Amino acid sequence: MSFDQYSMIIGGQRTFIWSGEMHAYRLPSPTLWRDVLQKMKASGLNAVSFYFDWGYHSPAPGVYDFTGVRDMDRLLTIADQVGLYVIARPGPYINAETDGGGFPAWLSTIAGKARTDAPDYLAATDQWQSAIDAIIARHQVTNGTGSVILYQIENELAATGTSQRNYLQHLYDKAHADGISVPVFHNDKGRNGIWVPSSSQVAGTVPGPVDLYAFDGYPGGTCHTDGSPGAPSAAPDWGIQGAGGAKGGATASPNTPGFVAEFGGGWFDYWGSVGTYPCTAQRQGSGYERVFYGTNIANRLTVQNFYMTFGGTSWGWLPAPVVYSSYDYGAAIDEARQLRPKAAALKSLGYFVQSVTPLTKVDKGPDVVPSSAAVKIEHTVNPDTGTNFYFAVHNPSSATTDDSFTFPITTADGSYTVPLELTGQDAKTLVADYDLEGQHLVYSTSEIETHLPGVALLHGRDGESGETLFRYASKPAVQVLSGSATSSYDPATGDLKLSYVHHGLIRVRVNGLTLLIADEDTAGSFWRVDSEAGPVLVRGPELVRTAHAAGPLLALTGDTTAPADLEVWGPRQALLVTWNGSLVPARPTTSRSLTALRQLPGPAPVRLPDLSGATWKYAPESPESQPGFADTTWRTADLTATNSTTKPPAGQVVLTADDYGFHHGDVWYRGHFDGAAPPSVTFDFGGGGAGLIQAWLDGTYLGQYVLPTNLASPPTRGTASFPVPAGLPDGDHVLSVMVRNDSHNEDGGVNDAQKEGRGLIGVTGLSTPVTWKIQGGDSSADPVRGPLNNGGLYGERAGWYLPGFDDRGWTTHPVPDTDAPAGTSWYRTTFDLRVPKGVDASLGLTIGTVPAESESSTQPRGHYRVLIFVNGWNMGQYIADVGPQHTFVLPTGVLDPHGPNTLALAVTSDGGPVNALERVQLANLATARGGVGT
Ligand code: GAL
Repeated sequence: MSFDQYSMIIGGQRTFIWSGEMHAYRLPSPTLWRDVLQKMKASGLNAVSFYFDWGYHSPAPGVYDFTGVRDMDRLLTIADQVGLYVIARPGPYINAETDGGGFPAWLSTIAGKARTDAPDYLAATDQWQSAIDAIIARHQVTNGTGSVILYQIENELAATGTSQRNYLQHLYDKAHADGISVPVFHNDKGRNGIWVPSSSQVAGTVPGPVDLYAFDGYPGGTCHTDGSPGAPSAAPDWGIQGAGGAKGGATASPNTPGFVAEFGGGWFDYWGSVGTYPCTAQRQGSGYERVFYGTNIANRLTVQNFYMTFGGTSWGWLPAPVVYSSYDYGAAIDEARQLRPKAAALKSLGYFVQSVTPLTKVDKGPDVVPSSAAVKIEHTVNPDTGTNFYFAVHNPSSATTDDSFTFPITTADGSYTVPLELTGQDAKTLVADYDLEGQHLVYSTSEIETHLPGVALLHGRDGESGETLFRYASKPAVQVLSGSATSSYDPATGDLKLSYVHHGLIRVRVNGLTLLIADEDTAGSFWRVDSEAGPVLVRGPELVRTAHAAGPLLALTGDTTAPADLEVWGPRQALLVTWNGSLVPARPTTSRSLTALRQLPGPAPVRLPDLSGATWKYAPESPESQPGFADTTWRTADLTATNSTTKPPAGQVVLTADDYGFHHGDVWYRGHFDGAAPPSVTFDFGGGGAGLIQAWLDGTYLGQYVLPTNLASPPTRGTASFPVPAGLPDGDHVLSVMVRNDSHNEDGGVNDAQKEGRGLIGVTGLSTPVTWKIQGGDSSADPVRGPLNNGGLYGERAGWYLPGFDDRGWTTHPVPDTDAPAGTSWYRTTFDLRVPKGVDASLGLTIGTVPAESESSTQPRGHYRVLIFVNGWNMGQYIADVGPQHTFVLPTGVLDPHGPNTLALAVTSDGGPVNALERVQLANLATARGGVGT
C-alpha cells in the first residue's frame, strides 16, 4: 500500500476510494450487516467506513466483549467478502451522536481529563486499543488477510496543546505496537489544517503523528424547522480548485491524497423536531450529490467517505442527548434498509470514479470559459493519458436555474465547442480523450456511468440532448438497435458523431461496442457486479447483490419488490443465468446481452398480526415510590468526592449515578429523613436529551419534569421544583425520585463534557439530614444485549423485558389504554410472524398516530414515554409529547420473522387518562423477495 498526492495505491493500482459510513453498533443483527454492505457495494461504493464504539463493548474497566452483535471480527470478514475496503475508525473518541461520544460510561468517573495525556486516561485507551486493534490488525490489506486500508486515530481533536500531541502520539505508537500497518490518519473538524503529516510544511498547519491528512465537512444546506428544504448552498472547493493553504481542505497536505473522512450524506435529527429525515434525504438528495460530490471529484479528493450511507438505529441507550432513537440520517439507505432515490446518483458517481481510472491521477487543467456566466467549468487532466475531465456546474453552484450553454474542449484530438444543459440543482462530469473499451472517445456530453468489455453505459437527464464523438481511421459500422440516435462520420477528422435526446434506453452498436445511453431513471435500473470471470452489468431488478461465474453458468442474487425484467451483459462464456438459485430461461439479444423470457417474480404479500386484537398483559411498577418498599439492599449514597464536572452542593453527599456504577437509563433514589414535610422540594438533576424526573413523597406523587426539547443542542441538566401537598404528618419521610438518563454528553469540546452528572446532583428544600439510597441498572447484567440495553427500572431488574418472563400472573389491559398511573407500568404481548420464506420484510412498530402533514406537530399529546423491548432488545424510546418518532425499525434477527415474538413496553406516565398508552401496531416498511436469508 502506498499513496502520493493523487490517490491511494493498493496492490499497485491507483484506486479512487468511494466510501460510505455505517455503524455496525446501530444494526444489532449481524446477518443484516451483509445486507447493508451488499447494498452499499451495489450502490457504487468500494469502501465502508466504520466507527467502533468503545462503550458498546466495555461494560466495566478491563471488560471487553466482541461476541454476538458485538462481533467485529465477523463484521470485517463480511466486509471483505462483500468486496469493500474498510476505513477503520476506533476512536477512542468518536463523537458520532453516541452516548459519551463513544466513551464507555465508566470512563466518566476517572480523574484524568479525557483526550489528553493524563496517565489514567491513556491507561484506559490502551485497554481499548489492545482489544480492538487485535481484531482490526487481522483484517489488513497490508497483511493480505483482509480489506482494511486505513486506520483513524481520535476524531475531530480540535485542541492542539502539547498534551493532545502527546496523546495522539501515544495512540499512533500503540496502534503500531498492536500491529496496525495501514496508513494512519486523523479527521480534522472542518478544514483547520490540524494534525497534518510532517511532509506538509504548509504555513499555519499543525503537524501530528499521522501518515495522511483528512478533514470533514457538512456543507449541503439544511431543512427548516417545519421540515421543508432550505435553499441549497454552494459547493466548496476543498482541493486543487480552491484557495489553497492550511485551511483549504486537502491543500493543507500537498503530498497526500485529497481525503475527506466525512462528507455530508445527510444529517441527524433531535428530540422535538418535526422529523426532518425525509426532507434531509431530499436536501442532500441526487442534485446535492452531483453538485457536491462532483465538486469534490473535480478537486481531486480521491478518498471520499459519505457520512452516513446507512445510519441505522441508536437502539437502547446509545443515542447522545442530541438525537433520538432513529439515526436514519436521510442517508442513501434508509433506517429500514431500503435504497432511497438518492442512492442512484451515488451509484452513478461511484461506478464512474471506479470505471474511468484516469481520474485517480489528475492535475488542474487550463481554465475553461463557458459561453454563459451562469455556469462554470472545473477542468482536470490526467498527465499520463491526456484524459480531460470537465466538471460543469452552475455559477454559483447553489443556483438552480435552467441553462443551455457551450464550452470549449481542447485535447490531443483537437478543439471542439460543446453544447450542454444544466437544469435545476445539477452538475455533470464529462470525459474527453479516453480509451472507452478499445474505442477512442473524443468526448461525450453524456456522462459515463461504467463500462466493461463490449459494453458501455452512458447517461443524461431525460429530455436533454447529447452527443458522443469517437474517432476512427475509417468509417466504422454503426447500428442503432433501439431508441433514436443519428450518426455522422467525418472522414477528414475521423470523427464519428452520435446525436440523440436522452430518453429511456438508446442502444447503439459502434464498431463492436454496445453503447447504452440511458436517462437517469433507466440508468438507475442498472447494476454492476463483479464475478470470477470479470464484471457483469445487469438491468432490471430492484437490487443485484452478487454474481458468480462458473463455466457457462452465471449465478446472480438480488432482490425484487415487484415482477422485474432481467437483462445481463456478462462474461462471453456465460450462457445460462440463475437468479437466487433458479434457472432463468433467457435468449441472446442484438445488444449482446441475455434477456429473461419471463419477468422475475416479486415477493408474496406479507400479512402482519393486528396488535389491537392481541391480549396485553399488564402490571403496574414503580414500587420504589411507595413508603414501605424495602431498599435495604440498595447502595447508600455516601461518597463525598466525585470526578464528575457537576459537584454536589456544599454539605451534600455525591448523588450522581455514574459514581455508584449506574450508567444508563433510569436510576432511583430514596431519601429518608425525619421531621416536618417540606413545603416544596427542588432537584438539580442531569438527564441528557429530553431527560425526565419523577418524584413522590411518602408515596404521594409530586409530579414530573422533562428537560426542554425542540432544540438541536438541548439542555442536559436542569432544575425541577415540586410543591408538596399540605397536611403530611411529621415523622419519618421517604422521598422517592426516578431520573431518566437520556445519555452522557459527547466531548466534542475537549472539556470532559461526558462527565456531567447524571441522576440527582443536588437537592434543596429539605432542612433535616437525609440518608440517600440509590439503585440503577447494571451494565453487565445482560451480556447478550450488552451494556447499553438496560437501565434501572424495577421491571428491567426483575427481567420483565425478557421474552421468557412468566407474566401469567399479570392482569390484562386494553391497548390503547384508557388510563395510566403515575410512574411506570408494563404491557406485554406476544405475536407470531409468518413472513414467507425468501422474503425480506423490514418491519417496525408504530405507537400513536403519525401526525398528518396538515396537523400541527405542537398539538398536545400525552405526557408519557415508552421503552420498547422486542424479544428483550431495547429498540428505542417513544416520547409522546416530545416526538417526533412514532415508528421504530425492528431488524430481522431481533425479530423472528418465522415464529413467536415478545413485545414488552415500559410506559412511564405523568398519570391520568390523557397520558395513557396509545395504539400500538406492527408496520411493514418494505418487502422484497430475496434478501440475505435469515
Ligand atoms: C462530525 C463527527 C461525527 C458526527 C458528525 C455529525 O463532525 O466527526 O462523529 O458527529 O459530525 O453526524
